[in-house]
Amino acid sequence: MQTLTSIKALQEVVKQQRLAGRKIGFVPTMGNLHDGHVSLVRKAKQLSDFVVTSIFVNPLQFGAGEDLDNYPRTLETDSKQLELQGNDIVFVPSVAEMYPLGMSTQTQVSVPQLSETLCGASRPGHFDGVTTVVTKLFNVVQPDLAVFGEKDFQQLSIIRKMVDDLCMPIEIVGVPTGRAADGLALSSRNGYLTADERLIAPELNKIIQSCKDAILSGSTDFSDLEASAKQGLQAAGFKPDYFAIRDSSTLTEVTKHTQEIAILAAARLGATRLIDNTRLAPPK
Ligand code: PAF
Repeated sequence: MQTLTSIKALQEVVKQQRLAGRKIGFVPTMGNLHDGHVSLVRKAKQLSDFVVTSIFVNPLQFGAGEDLDNYPRTLETDSKQLELQGNDIVFVPSVAEMYPLGMSTQTQVSVPQLSETLCGASRPGHFDGVTTVVTKLFNVVQPDLAVFGEKDFQQLSIIRKMVDDLCMPIEIVGVPTGRAADGLALSSRNGYLTADERLIAPELNKIIQSCKDAILSGSTDFSDLEASAKQGLQAAGFKPDYFAIRDSSTLTEVTKHTQEIAILAAARLGATRLIDNTRLAPPK
């Protein structure tokens, strides 16, 4: 596995692979890799011939007072994990390599509406930072396919829309959320949890699953389900940010035309913001 830090060097290597007829898979990450990321790289390996994984803690997607400075940077262990999966290139650009003229004059890519709801409402500008860096990374790597986790379901929806809207010739592949044995969605931010918070954290998934069960058993009062799920989160010790039952394709309210429902939640546990989701077919 090669580690590259320069856009030019990466483009040269990928170009040679493309000329040799190889299908290029790409996994964008911010590092601190866990089993969830490993499953993304595995999926990329299954679906392509040459896999590039990027590790870049993107300052453009962090708001003031968020965890940019403390975000765990663990390049050595990340590289070992990637090598074990047969990843071909790890691309680790510096902030100066990605934003040579700084971030204030950087051209931005923005997906309206979808980026403004749910996590976008509590983290203004966050998704613009994501779509901007992902566009830059896509332009650098020019992959045939790119793999993202379904844990960040809103992010995945936004990237799918961006790729469609901008006619980017890239297949977007979603991979189901990796979970700990107790159901907690794997996330680099789980490392911030204290031992006591770690015991409470799986409640987020449990409450989402109870809501899913209630819908599958015929409950149709979604506002009531959302309100009682929020109460359940509060009772468990969370500060809920949102708990929302939405149409999975638009992330707007469920209607009679909805083909798939998404239940999405974000909640703070101490200093850590956790997100999770599930999806289901609307009961007939
Ligand atoms: O999901 C992430 O880790 C990041 O948002 C991404 C897609 C790598 C962009 O920085």
